[in-house]
Amino acid sequence: MNVSHEENFKLELEGLDRKISRLSVSTRPEEDYVNDLIPPVEVEEKVGKAGWELSRTSDGFTVEYSGSPVAKFTELSEVSSDRVDGQNNGQWLRLVHKLADNSRVFGLGEKTGYLEKSGRVYEMWNRDTNGFYTHNEDPLYSSIPFYIVQEEGIDQTRNFIGVYLHQAERSRFNVKNGERMDGVGITVFSPKATLYLIAGEEIKQVVKGYTRLTGKPLLPPKWALGYHHSKYGAPGDREEALKIAKDFRRRGIPCDALYFDIQHMDSNKDFTWDEARFPEPESLIDQLHEMDYRVVNIVDPGIKEEEGYEVYDSGKENDVFVKDLEGEDFSGSVWAGFCVFPDFIRKDARDWWASQNEKLLDQGVDGIWNDMNEPAIFFGEKQIKRIASELEDKISNEDHLGLSCKQRLASISENNTNSMVHESEEGEKVDHQKVHNLYALYEAVATEQAFERKRPNRRPFILTRSGFSGIQKYAAKWTGDNSSTWEHMRMSIYMSLNLGLSGLPLVGPDIGGFDGDVEPELLTRWIQLGSVLPFFRNHSSLDTTPQEPWSFGEKYEDINRKYISLRYRLLPFLYTEFFRTHRSGIPVMRPLFMEFPADEETYSVSDQFLIGDSMLVAPVVERGSERRLVYLPYEDGNREISWLDWWTGNRLESGYNVLEAPLEVMPILVREGKGIPYTAPVQHTGEVRKELNIKVNPGSGDQKEVQVPIYDDDGETKGYDQGNYFYGEFIIEESGEGTALELEVKHDGYEPFWSEIEVINPD
Ligand code: GLC
Repeated sequence: MNVSHEENFKLELEGLDRKISRLSVSTRPEEDYVNDLIPPVEVEEKVGKAGWELSRTSDGFTVEYSGSPVAKFTELSEVSSDRVDGQNNGQWLRLVHKLADNSRVFGLGEKTGYLEKSGRVYEMWNRDTNGFYTHNEDPLYSSIPFYIVQEEGIDQTRNFIGVYLHQAERSRFNVKNGERMDGVGITVFSPKATLYLIAGEEIKQVVKGYTRLTGKPLLPPKWALGYHHSKYGAPGDREEALKIAKDFRRRGIPCDALYFDIQHMDSNKDFTWDEARFPEPESLIDQLHEMDYRVVNIVDPGIKEEEGYEVYDSGKENDVFVKDLEGEDFSGSVWAGFCVFPDFIRKDARDWWASQNEKLLDQGVDGIWNDMNEPAIFFGEKQIKRIASELEDKISNEDHLGLSCKQRLASISENNTNSMVHESEEGEKVDHQKVHNLYALYEAVATEQAFERKRPNRRPFILTRSGFSGIQKYAAKWTGDNSSTWEHMRMSIYMSLNLGLSGLPLVGPDIGGFDGDVEPELLTRWIQLGSVLPFFRNHSSLDTTPQEPWSFGEKYEDINRKYISLRYRLLPFLYTEFFRTHRSGIPVMRPLFMEFPADEETYSVSDQFLIGDSMLVAPVVERGSERRLVYLPYEDGNREISWLDWWTGNRLESGYNVLEAPLEVMPILVREGKGIPYTAPVQHTGEVRKELNIKVNPGSGDQKEVQVPIYDDDGETKGYDQGNYFYGEFIIEESGEGTALELEVKHDGYEPFWSEIEVINPD
């Protein structure tokens, strides 16, 4: 271990292996500061690995491996709170990761904006944005303090370095802001900054390394990859639930999961059903199961303060709720009215939460949807009373209610968790600062525990709004409330890509947009996009125009059906890619530069992406547009390749191409040397077709061999962990004599679904 004391700071460097090291920076007086609430990294620590060195420079220090610089840091300082944020009294530690002018920065989790992150400040503080956010909005629902830098290495080859700030306190990343910032300025509300440095020749290695540290993404059950349908306000009763279920089947539009938002509850109270509108929920769920649907119920962390409400009474009795500064249960208003909040950082509170969730599982619910878990609170009860009395004073003294008052009122919901006080397992008080960003993560841990107890051999399904590094092990994530606008549809691509780059691959937006009325064309274009996104759920808000796939007449319904069906046709491909992602951490949905790092042009393309390494998608994101300018990358930077148009069978070449994209077409292309396995359409993931098609693009050059990976398992259980799965690779060779197909079996622990295979080569 390298330890070095600079006047006021203690620096420690420890190698975990050749590629990963840990750097801790702490202010001397606070050497013992710990926030051990953050889950530890998963890489076994190999203390003092030789080769890693810290060396001093005139303005900071450099981390080196084998004598070569890996990262250079400057401007180490301690900042008083008021210079950074009036709301937080205490110390902020600050340092700058110095970068070369031509470097690029990616990642940082759930962020809007283009993929290259320079020129903005990003904050890590989980926050409910209410759906109206802009291209520059920050922070959003979840926090992943991990970024990736691409920089020319000293040997002139490209190098990537990932930096994971293993600190859950509020933090800020000021990324290459012109003359004001010539690197990444890292500021953390803590006297300590623990940074994991992950080096790699390729960006994929860095993302892999990050998921080695924070956990590999879960393998979802197959049904989680189907089309999911949801709306706040609907179904409003049992009849409507059955009607929606029948409508999908009657219209031949595939669907796997129906969601029950808070309207299903008795006065928005968790773990209840409104008895008049939803009598006998078990029998309703049974009926939906018989029609091959899965049921997902919403659960908010806020428990209504109401004596006689079983969940509240039991939580009180077990004393599981977060406290306020006066030591009383913290009370805040959310959907159900004034609520209290389980203290998920405590094991006993998690156990209690799991037992509440078990009731839903007993009723037959298949998945749990964790919403409002930033935690999002409209008003803190004491906070609003205090402000109201101050305002009353001001008004009665005829004081001027000026701008500062306006700002204060506007920031109520931003600051309403400030007075939350948690308790550690040892019974010590813990400031909310240390917990805030971890709240949803621990809620997911508790929810998973319920699944583990009730269905130990089944894969759980948890959908979360908020989260922190590591959430990829437990939950799928949707990008929170958005709006039914073209801008939000476009942003949903960047956000999903960005989350994947940040180790969280099972993501997607509210398809069609949450707030506001969707227009027919936008819904159709968004369904097209959703059909290839990792997580595919249509969801919208109360009192907005219905956005069922059939809501706007036959013309749109037919196209929507075609793309939702496409999703199901592509399941063999998508499921294989999810398995690979589960193993490697490399996201299913990838920016072009992840596959074509040597092609400079790919770095400026944010609205196209690849699924796996073989399928390129260029969604139409402009209203009224019937053509799409598509960039098709060059292999190895300059080698022209062919790209097969999924729809027409035409071959296109690397470079910019204008593709016809009338409303019924979202351009999809298959990379040269690759193939896509798919089947005939089905109505839900439980329906299995025995024919497997493989669309191949062997290209026109010398390379005529195509390799197509394929995975299958039972889609439901954890058996794959014991080896009950099939993994192989089709080797398809095209020659003058025809097509030769071989299956190279790599793991033979399950009988895969197909009995017939057809290779489709449009040539
Ligand atoms: C929040 C969620 C949204 C949900 C609504 C009502 O706004 O983000 O998805 O529909 O609450 O529960």
